[in-house]
Amino acid sequence: STGLPGAKERTLVAVKPDGVQRRLVGQVIQRFEQRGFKLVGLKMLQVSEDLLSEHYCQLRQKPFYPNLVHYMTSGPVVVMVWEGHNVVQTSRTMVGHTNPTEAQAGTIRGDFSVHVSRNVVHASDSLEGAQREIQLWFQAKDLLDWDCCDQASTS
Ligand code: TYD
Repeated sequence: STGLPGAKERTLVAVKPDGVQRRLVGQVIQRFEQRGFKLVGLKMLQVSEDLLSEHYCQLRQKPFYPNLVHYMTSGPVVVMVWEGHNVVQTSRTMVGHTNPTEAQAGTIRGDFSVHVSRNVVHASDSLEGAQREIQLWFQAKDLLDWDCCDQASTS
């Protein structure tokens, strides 16, 4: 571990059903690994409407909410917890603007999507949001704290 302040920050990232169906799971994971973040939790599941309405509790009154539920329950999602320095903010930058039309090339949404209703990935938008979402999607026992084992760190 680096010992830097905030190095243990965690966020929730999910590959949405369109991302799974389009075989983009590996490319999403690769970007987070390549950036240097640590994967501490991972699972694939079919999301229930109850879980989704908790996850998107602030959006229940929005006109697009019914379509969002239909989309998010249309197939399995791959949900992950990533850890590292400033991971909440950096993962939002890596994911790009909510509306792929506004997302810069080089971001996940900017590279892989064209419409807000099929924007491939989710990432928590704040530290508080990340804590809330991680608790909602994962049990504490399924998040693993692990260290690198290389020759330099072996004693
Ligand atoms: P939101 O939490 O605002 O964005 P983000 O995913 O970037 O944190 O919205 C949640 C999801 O709702 C968004 O990823 C896609 C969907 N959505 C729509 O379908 N239409 C819309 O106009 C908006 C704002 C979001």
